[in-house]
Amino acid sequence: MAGEVRPPELLDEPELILEDGEVYRNPTEVKMSQIVLPCHANHCGELSVGQLLKWMDSTACLSAERHAGCSCITASVDDIHFEHTIGVGQVVNIKAKVNRAFTSSMEVGIVVSCEDLYRNRQWKVCHAFATFVARRTEAGKVQLKQVIPRTQAEQMEYSIAAERRRMRLIHAEIINDLLSSSSAHAVVRTPMDPHRAVSECLQFEDAVPAERTRVESVELVLPPHANHQVSTFGGQIMAWMENVATISASRLCNAHPTLRSIDMFHFRGPSHIGDRLVLKAIVNNAFKKSMEVGVCAEAYQGGEPLRHINTAFMTFEVLDQDKKPQTLPRIRPEPVDGKRRFQEAIARKKVRLDRKYIISCKQSEVPLSVPWDPSNQMYLSYNNVSALKMLAARNNWVLTSEKNKVSLYTLEENHVLCFKVETHVAIAAEQVFVLLCDLRRRHEWDPHYKECEVINHADEDDTIYRVVTPSVSKGGKVQDFILLASRRRPCDSGDPYWIALRSVTLPAFPPTEGYNRGEVVCAGFSITEEDRCLTKLSYYNQATPGVLPYISTDIAGLSSSFYSAFASCSAFLEENKDSLAAVPSAASGEPHWETV
Ligand code: COA
Repeated sequence: MAGEVRPPELLDEPELILEDGEVYRNPTEVKMSQIVLPCHANHCGELSVGQLLKWMDSTACLSAERHAGCSCITASVDDIHFEHTIGVGQVVNIKAKVNRAFTSSMEVGIVVSCEDLYRNRQWKVCHAFATFVARRTEAGKVQLKQVIPRTQAEQMEYSIAAERRRMRLIHAEIINDLLSSSSAHAVVRTPMDPHRAVSECLQFEDAVPAERTRVESVELVLPPHANHQVSTFGGQIMAWMENVATISASRLCNAHPTLRSIDMFHFRGPSHIGDRLVLKAIVNNAFKKSMEVGVCAEAYQGGEPLRHINTAFMTFEVLDQDKKPQTLPRIRPEPVDGKRRFQEAIARKKVRLDRKYIISCKQSEVPLSVPWDPSNQMYLSYNNVSALKMLAARNNWVLTSEKNKVSLYTLEENHVLCFKVETHVAIAAEQVFVLLCDLRRRHEWDPHYKECEVINHADEDDTIYRVVTPSVSKGGKVQDFILLASRRRPCDSGDPYWIALRSVTLPAFPPTEGYNRGEVVCAGFSITEEDRCLTKLSYYNQATPGVLPYISTDIAGLSSSFYSAFASCSAFLEENKDSLAAVPSAASGEPHWETV
């Protein structure tokens, strides 16, 4: 736990020394350090999470404003998991920087660490990604300048920020889909089933009635709660929400609850000085060792109707003296709406686990094949593309050999071997992307793809294939792979196209006799437009036991099958480019790759 704190997934890299001899520092980086005083703490002497959220929001806002050069507002904050509590007398260090600017919005990365001054120790408390939006001017929406990543870590964050944005903008949709399927499930099981009624009675025997955990509190927004534009600080609203959620959680367990995580916050509308903010919280469901509290903030002025500002879901635990989570009392939901919230909390728990273990998992800890299902599709797609982007952003690739303008690079680290094959083709990037997207055509240039069939069209950017490859040894079994292919078009000019591949498991396609089931942890293409008719094509692969035999002879210099595969690939692209003349350009609409 002790030691220097590093942002998630970032790797050690040497300092970047600028031409003037100065060490490079990100121009948007803002740091805040605070000693935790009793006035910032709860009655247990721990920093209140509300106070921490205020500091995080202000630091991130200053970073966003430094980039934007104008006033910015908090639009959303992604899931936050708190790894440790912070005590009075300890120092909180917060670092924020803009990872990427889009049109009027920016992603700001925030890292919070705690420092014990007397023991000279430092540890990570949490990290977060917040989206800030430059306030509209009379001329309309602000167009922000682009962020130029300078270091490897900045390049990675820049690239993956586009993936996180894609996910957060459809987050509400994913949750709604899941909730509607979970409530449909609940409704199907609801009809007067006497066994179910009895078991429900038993289930809720001795349970705490949910209404006992209901909290309502009002706050008047005063000038100290607002920024210079008289808008209420997002951090202040989050702090008030955390306050009522904590009271609600305490009412369930009659003990001091510890906030473990907050699901994505989305500020739906602004609040201003003079607003009355009504904050409501209730325990939606108590699982064995954790509970979900739902909290909502609404605003009004005078006789105006209430405006919805924010809804959040917070997960609390109650820790014993050894900091282990205690078993919690069960909750008895209120009828109708309470039961709906109870069911929805179960669905959200699944989403939360998917998000935590698929998204936040370090690439080195990702299990090879992850079970795929429609509810985790979004996160697996994110994981697939971001793993490839991270691999591509590494700057320690070693050129192993070169032949006919095809270069083979390797990267060996922590017992993992990765390789990259790179070449240029005189074909437009969009056409290369469309032709390579359909893995069913790969056999036309890659002898390793003996057979390939689509087994699931997950969504318009993701398809699952079953691929059969030849046996690696004479007389051995052929191999098959279940691959999730995730496609992305450029988010901005200068961005590559991506086709990411990773193994997943599907219950309907178990390993079968006669085939060795191979696995791919991270592979795929980046396709970069160099000019209108020149494209850099790069293929990446993090070698797994199933893949290694195909490439080790190439890497050792004993064969050159990769060069010939790439030469065939170039010939395939050249031969077929005219068949795509009708493909609309990215600017003129979304081409449908499957139909091409
Ligand atoms: N998460 C992240 N970004 C979001 C978002 C969300 N949930 N909802 C919208 N955005 C982004 C959009 O993608 C867009 O980005 P871009 O310009 O880079 O493409 C940007 O916000 C503006 O979107 P737009 O469609 O022009 O406006 P909108 O009507 O969706 O409004 C807000 C977005 C954030 C401006 C609006 O919801 C708001 O004012 N919220 C309150 C913000 C606030 O006051 N916060 C402080 C605490 S009260």
